[in-house]
Amino acid sequence: MKLLNIALPKGRLGDKVYGMFAAAGFECPDILEENRKLVFENPALGLRYFWVKPSDVAVYVERGAADVGVAGKDILLEYTPDVYELLDLKVGKCRMAVASKHDFYDDQRRTLHVATKFTKIASDYYASLGRDIDIIHLNGSVEIAPILGLSDVIVDIVETGRTLQENHLEVRETVVPISARLIANKASYEFKREMIDRLREGLAKLVEEAEA
Ligand code: PRP
Repeated sequence: MKLLNIALPKGRLGDKVYGMFAAAGFECPDILEENRKLVFENPALGLRYFWVKPSDVAVYVERGAADVGVAGKDILLEYTPDVYELLDLKVGKCRMAVASKHDFYDDQRRTLHVATKFTKIASDYYASLGRDIDIIHLNGSVEIAPILGLSDVIVDIVETGRTLQENHLEVRETVVPISARLIANKASYEFKREMIDRLREGLAKLVEEAEA
C-alpha cells in the first residue's frame, strides 16, 4: 500500500490540525506520545506524519517529500509554492495588517518606509495601491522598527492585537485575512488522488460543521 506523507506545522496550530485529520479518519495515535520524535506512522491506514517548522511545510509539499500538508495563507502568498491549495481549514485565523505608531501621519507624496518579514505580500499590496515604498526586510521582532524610526509602518501578522498594543502600535489597514490551508503536491495529487480526496472531503465536512 502507498503511504500518504503528511507534513504538519509543529506547534499549537499543528496540534489542532492533527485533531481535525484524526476526526476525518486519518488518525495516528503514536503522535500523541510526549516525546521529541518528528515522524510517526500508522501502517494500518497507510499514513506517515511529520512535524516541520510551519514556514517549511510548503517546501516539503512542493518538492514532494510530503504529499499533503497544512500551511498558512501568509506563507502561500509570500513564497507562492507550486502546489494545489485544496481547502481552507478556517483555523489559525489572523490577518496581515499595516501598523504604525499612533501619531504617525502618512504623507501620501512621500515614499513610505515599510519593515516586514513578508516582503512580497507588502510589495504586492502597495503596488496595488500605486504607492511608492522602501521595503526593509527583517526576520522578526518587526514591531521595534517604527519605535526606533527604522520604518514608518510594519506589515505583519495580527492575531489578538496584543503584540501591537504592548508596543504602542495600532492597525491602520488590513492587507489580507489569513487562515490555514490544506495543500497538496501536484504529482501526488495525480498518483494518490483517491486518498487525498477522501482526506479533503473528510476535512471539508468538519469545517462545514464547525461553521454551522
Ligand atoms: C506573530 C506576529 C506578531 C504576533 C501577533 O508572530 O509576527 O509578532 O504573532 O500576534 P498577536 O496579535 O496575538 O499579539 P509569531 O508568534 O507567529 O512568531 P514569529 O515572530 O516568529 O513569526
